Amino acid sequence: MSAPIHAAIVGTGHYAPARVLTNADLEKMVDTTDEWIRTRTGIRERRIAADNEFTSDMGTAASRMALEQARLAPEDVEAIYVATCTPDMFFPSTACLIQATLGAKRAYGFDISSACAGFLMALDAAGAAVESGRIRNALVIGSEKLSAVTDWTSRNTCVLFGDGAGAAVLKASDRPGIRSSLLGVDGNLAEFLSIPAGGCRQPTSEETVRQRLHYMHMAGRETFKIAVNTMLGAAQEAIARAGLTVADVDVMVPHQANLRIVEAVAKRLGEGVMERVFLNLDRYGNTSAASIPIALSEAVAAGKIRSGNKVLMVAFGGGLSWGGTVVEWL
Ligand SMILES: CC(C)(COP(=O)(O)OP(=O)(O)OC[C@H]1O[C@@H](n2cnc3c(N)ncnc32)[C@H](O)[C@@H]1OP(=O)(O)O)[C@@H](O)C(=O)NCCC(=O)NCCS
Repeated sequence: MSAPIHAAIVGTGHYAPARVLTNADLEKMVDTTDEWIRTRTGIRERRIAADNEFTSDMGTAASRMALEQARLAPEDVEAIYVATCTPDMFFPSTACLIQATLGAKRAYGFDISSACAGFLMALDAAGAAVESGRIRNALVIGSEKLSAVTDWTSRNTCVLFGDGAGAAVLKASDRPGIRSSLLGVDGNLAEFLSIPAGGCRQPTSEETVRQRLHYMHMAGRETFKIAVNTMLGAAQEAIARAGLTVADVDVMVPHQANLRIVEAVAKRLGEGVMERVFLNLDRYGNTSAASIPIALSEAVAAGKIRSGNKVLMVAFGGGLSWGGTVVEWL
């Protein structure tokens, strides 16, 4: 019997738009304060893409960095999985647009829509394709231009989100990379976090625009509680399926939605876990599917993730959807 094929992360990259929107800037736009935003969320500033800068552009930039680190040329890429809830268009997929700008001539690609859990869903799917032997590598991207679907008159949501992209290159390996992946959804709670209009259920009309239904809507308090419980469950199950204990986790890279959610999950996971958490939400806010891959790439660049480390990623988002993934770094 031939040895099992594993899927290992061999490169990471990220891209953040140049424009910084601070809490002080938001004070001038809606009835809020820097103090409220910082104490309730931990966010200080977020990045906002330029008018002519789109999800595919940011995804392409993050991919170039990841491919360079992986020492792969665009022509070597076999598959492109893009997690996004803010695609450039309904179709063609953002993956097609990135394939073209990268010049990834041999790659197929498609988008995965699972809001903030999207990157872990994409990593799972791409990882399974690599492990099956059908492909030897895949580019897994999380990219979002949430500013395009943010209601800038609603203080309930506009203080939370930002734009950006992250990417990871998965490659077939004889040593373990992805050690476990636990995914879940509960569509009964779909209305907690959604963009109600613009799809076939409520096609865009003057009325939907007037009611601002083409923007993100969120039940914040309800989402908070469920986020903590599902992220905790996903983290514990992913660690157990990897045959590890919480003590074995070297670095935790959570979805960067809210510092209080991350602290609550880390505290319930165990003593000293918070010290092993990589955080950048103070600088980016919640970038949905881009959140984990940006943090992963920054953690690698900062030398916080090293060869042999067991890295726990855990996410939660609209759907509702969630995921926990343990990766052993090559
Ligand atoms: C949104 C969130 C930060 C609000 O924090 P909270 O402690 O739950 O605050 P509440 O919703 O209880 O609101 C408290 C008050 O602050 C007000 N408020 C809301 N946003 C505000 C803002 N930006 N500035 C000032 N006040 C604000 C509310 O109107 C409310 O006022 P009221 O008591 O007079 O009604 C928090 O619920 C949260 O992070 N939820 C999860 C959201 C999330 O992460 N979503 C994405 C998941 S991927």
